[in-house]
Amino acid sequence: MLRALLWTLTPFAFLSLLCALLYALAALAGSRLLGFAARGLASALALTACACYGVVASVVLRVLGYGGLGQWTTARAYKWTMRWVAGVEFVVEDEGKRAWEEREDRRRRGRSGEGEEKVGGRLDGAAEGEEVVYGRRGYLGTRPAVFVGNHQTELDVLLLACIFPPYCSVTSKKSLKYWPFLGWFMTASKTVFIDRANRTSAVAAFDGAAEQMRRERQSVFIFPEGTRSYAETPMLLPFKKGAFHLAVQAQVPVVPVVAANYSHILNMKKRVFNPGGIRTKVLRPIPTTGMTAADVPALAERVRDLMLRELVALSAHPEPNGAASKKEEKGEEEEGEDDSVGGGGALPPPPPQQQQPR
Ligand SMILES: *[C@@H]1O[C@H](CO)[C@@H](O)[C@H](O)[C@H]1NC(C)=O
Ligand SMILES: *[C@@H]1O[C@H](CO)[C@@H](O)[C@H](O)[C@H]1NC(C)=O
Repeated sequence: MLRALLWTLTPFAFLSLLCALLYALAALAGSRLLGFAARGLASALALTACACYGVVASVVLRVLGYGGLGQWTTARAYKWTMRWVAGVEFVVEDEGKRAWEEREDRRRRGRSGEGEEKVGGRLDGAAEGEEVVYGRRGYLGTRPAVFVGNHQTELDVLLLACIFPPYCSVTSKKSLKYWPFLGWFMTASKTVFIDRANRTSAVAAFDGAAEQMRRERQSVFIFPEGTRSYAETPMLLPFKKGAFHLAVQAQVPVVPVVAANYSHILNMKKRVFNPGGIRTKVLRPIPTTGMTAADVPALAERVRDLMLRELVALSAHPEPNGAASKKEEKGEEEEGEDDSVGGGGALPPPPPQQQQPR
């Protein structure tokens, strides 16, 4: 047992040393290629370490009855590790959360006056009694929901790490459920399985998944493009319909998440991997209450249009603007593009972190 542990830890330690060496060389030589290699290796090592953590955490959480938090805690572990080892982060902007924070702020200063002010209000078209007030987690707190995002590169694992809400999971083919380790991890962390084998109808394939989402109030995240776009401009590939079928079938909202085009941070073709922050916006949840399978194509098209519009808007203002940039907008100097390779890179201040499960 001890020997087995040593056998796995030794290569890891060796690769970590190599990674540190690459970073040092990249800084000394100012080499873009070495920086690319160093950050790439750091990301892979971080992913391996966090996956190991994720397996243990998911099993422990499952035993304690919180299996739905397994993927969330794994995701956050990767977010913080990557921030530390590669200096890269998706900086999440969530209007729902901002509205909540502003309301709390007013309330704290005693200016809220009389009357309860609802943030977000009822989802358009939500049925009676289905009023949704976006809480401190904002739009990302919608639960259950189908979250959809644009898929650009391998770095989108980190996008997931930065936005993943509690009680959310990825989806997977049902056949993977029975794989050793991977399948066990996914089961422990409550992955939503899609029964691709069930060809009775396209709709039947999502039955089990939709039912699981409703029963366990479990959200899912899906990249509807289905594959990486490697975009260097704000663009989206055509959307596959699965995510929207699932949302309609489960009658849960679709929550779009849009990351700005980031080929200045990672560009596999040009061997570029720089530190920095990537603006990422969470859009207002789109309810699907009352929709049927016939509405799915229109829904997919609508969501794609909304996301594309946001993507274009984001690329026009690519600098992440957290709390800090509100001051910047008032005339202070803007943070320059950091294209140095070795340096840690100036990261925007982290959004207020709420690690406590609700
Ligand atoms: C396919 O899905 C339908 C509806 O959920 C279910 O009744 C049927 O048993 C499934 N078939 C298989 C082969 O799993
Ligand atoms: C994003 O797209 C815009 C518009 O095409 C382009 O000007 C910009 O350089 C792109 N940014 C990155 C980092 O790819």
